[in-house]
Amino acid sequence: MSDIYKTDALIAEDIDKYLEIHQHKTMLRFITCGSVDDGKSTLIGRLLYDSKMIFEDQLATLESDSKRVGTQGEGIDFALLVDGLAAEREQGITIDVAYRFFATDKRKFIVADTPGHEQYTRNMVTGASTADLAVILIDARKGVLTQTRRHSYLAHLIGIRNIVLAVNKMDLIGYDRAKYDAIVADYRAFAESIGISEFTAIPISGLAGDNITTRSDNTPWHDGPVLLEHLETVELNQSVEQDKPFRMAVQWVNRPNLDFRGFSGTIATGSVAVGDSVRVLPSGKTSTISRIVTMDGDLAQAVAGQAITLCLADEIDCSRGQLITAAKSPVEVADQFEATVIWMDEVDLTPGRTYWMKLGPQTVSATISQPKYQVNVNTMEQLAAKTLDLNAIGVANVTVDRDIPFAPYTDSRDLGGFILIDKMTNRTVGAGLIHFSLRRAQNIHRQATDISREHHASLKNQAPMVLWMTGLSGSGKSTIANLVEKKLARMNRHTFLLDGDNVRHGLNKDLGFTDTDRVENIRRVGEVARLMTDAGLIVITAFISPFRSEREMVRGVMQPGEFIEVFIDTPLEEAEKRDVKGLYAKARAGELKNFTGIDSPYEPPEAPQIRIDTTQMSADAAADLIIAKLLP
Ligand code: ADX
Repeated sequence: MSDIYKTDALIAEDIDKYLEIHQHKTMLRFITCGSVDDGKSTLIGRLLYDSKMIFEDQLATLESDSKRVGTQGEGIDFALLVDGLAAEREQGITIDVAYRFFATDKRKFIVADTPGHEQYTRNMVTGASTADLAVILIDARKGVLTQTRRHSYLAHLIGIRNIVLAVNKMDLIGYDRAKYDAIVADYRAFAESIGISEFTAIPISGLAGDNITTRSDNTPWHDGPVLLEHLETVELNQSVEQDKPFRMAVQWVNRPNLDFRGFSGTIATGSVAVGDSVRVLPSGKTSTISRIVTMDGDLAQAVAGQAITLCLADEIDCSRGQLITAAKSPVEVADQFEATVIWMDEVDLTPGRTYWMKLGPQTVSATISQPKYQVNVNTMEQLAAKTLDLNAIGVANVTVDRDIPFAPYTDSRDLGGFILIDKMTNRTVGAGLIHFSLRRAQNIHRQATDISREHHASLKNQAPMVLWMTGLSGSGKSTIANLVEKKLARMNRHTFLLDGDNVRHGLNKDLGFTDTDRVENIRRVGEVARLMTDAGLIVITAFISPFRSEREMVRGVMQPGEFIEVFIDTPLEEAEKRDVKGLYAKARAGELKNFTGIDSPYEPPEAPQIRIDTTQMSADAAADLIIAKLLP
C-alpha cells in the first residue's frame, strides 16, 4: 500500500500531466450533494468508469489518498491542486472535500465530493465556492428530504446557477414515471421558494447505469438530457463572467527593472484589450492599457479566468489589492456592507470584534455586527440570533477599516466573496458574501480642526498616553490606577481615570457581561481614551478587558507607542481570597453568571509593557514602579 503515501509532489506531477493532455478542453467544476445512502459514490464511480479516463491508476490512488486525508481531517492537499479559495488554502482550513478529475472527448471535469452530513456546511461551502454546477442527488424511494433542501439552499447561496436534480435509484421504484414526476414537482415548489428558477431533472440509476452516460430504455418518457451529456454542454460560469464589465484585482506589482511595470492578476469578469481605458480603484485614476503580457507572450485581448500582467500607458499609482476596472463601469467603493456570513469555527462569532477580512488580494480589518437574523438551513426560517456558531449562516453588517472596491457576490464571486480570519489564532473562522454597501458611512467626513492634538499636548506640557490596566476582578486595578493618578496629579500632570465600575453606570450602562458586551465595552472605552489623548491627557484605565483581541484593537486606535499595557497580575486564588466585593462568592454559588475567571475566560497579556505582581508588592509600590517606568 506504499503508494497510498505517495508524496504531494508526485500527485501534483500526475495532475500536471493529466491537465496538459486536456489543456485545450473547457473545464467544468461541479459538486455532488447527497449522503452515502443516496448512491453518491456509486454515481461518481460510474462517471469515472464510463468516461475515458487517462491515468486511471494514478487517479485511483488520488482517490484513496483524498479519502485518507479527508477522514483524518488534516487539511486536504488536493485543494492545493485545484483553484479553491486561494486565501483559504493559504490558511490551511481543515475541510473534508475530495476532488476527483476525469475527462471526456468534449470536456474535462473536476468534481468536489462533499460529505452530506448535517455538520458539514463548511465543507460544502468550500467545495461549492468554485463550482459551475451542483448535482443534487435524491433517493427516488425517499423523495425530497430536509438535506435536499439544505444542499440546494447552500448551492444557490454560494452562487451555483446550474442545478441538476438527479433522481437516483429509479430501478428500485420500477422506473415509475408518476413517482418521478411527483418528486420533481415537489422539488420545483421548494426551489422556487428560495429563488431557484431553473433546474434540470434527470431520472437515473447509478448502479444500473440508466441515463448516466447513455440514454436508458427504461425511461422512454424522459425527454431531457442524460447526465454526462448535460455536464458536457452546460454553459460554464467563465463564459457568463466574460460578458460582464472588465474587473481585475491586482495580485502583485511586477517591476523587475525601471523599464517595466506591470500589474498581475486573474481577470475576474469581462475582457480587456490593448487600448482600452481603465480605472484604478479606490483612487479612481484612469489610464489606457498599453500591453497585455502572459507567460506565452503578449496578447491583444484577454478574458475572464486568464492570468495576465497589464501595463498602463501612464505612471499612475496602483498597488497590490487594488482593482483595475473598465473606465466606464467602475465598481463601488465602500467601507460598510450587508453580507451573508457563514461561520466555520468551533468558537462562536463575537460581534464587534475585529477580524482580518480577505477579499481577493485585499486584507482589511473588519467587524461583524450582531446578526440581523440567522437562517435555519433545514427550514429556511429566519431566526433571531446574537451570534453565529459552527456552520451557522446569518446576515449581518460588516464594517471595514478603509474604503475597498467590491462587487455584490451575485455579480462576482471574486469581488464579493470574502473570508474572515481570527487575528489572534490566525484561523479561518468564516466566509461571507457581500449583498450591498451601506451608504450611511458615505456622508460622514472628518472635520479638520485648527487646534491639533500636538497643540493640546504642548499646552499641558506632556506626552499623551494610555495606561491600560488589565487583570481579574479584584486584582487591584482600580486601587493602583487611583494611586497612579494621585501621584501624577502631584507632579502637575493632566490625567483622567476611566474605571470599569464607573463607566458602566453611565456611558456603558446598557452593557452586561457577555463576550459581545465586553467587546463593545472595551471598544467604547478605547474610543473615549483615544479622544482624551487627542485632548492631550494621560489616560489611566481600569477594566478587566479579558480578551487579547480587544486590547490589541485599542492599541490599534491609539497613536503608535501611546498605548501602555499594564498587567495587574494577581492569581485567581488570590483575587478570590480577597473578594472585596463578594462577587466571587456569588459566582461560585451560581448567582452570578459569566464571571471572569470562573465561567468566563481571562486571556493574560503575552508581552505587557509593565507587569505588576501584586503578591510581591504593595499597591503604593506598584504605582511608584509604573510611574518610574513611564516618566524616567
Ligand atoms: S470588562 O470585562 O468588560 O472589562 P469591566 O472592567 O468593565 O469588565 O467590569 C468589571 C467589574 O464589573 C468587576 O470589577 C465587577 O465589579 C463587576 N462585575 C459584575 N459582574 C461581573 C462579571 N460577570 N464578570 C466580571 N465582572 C463583573
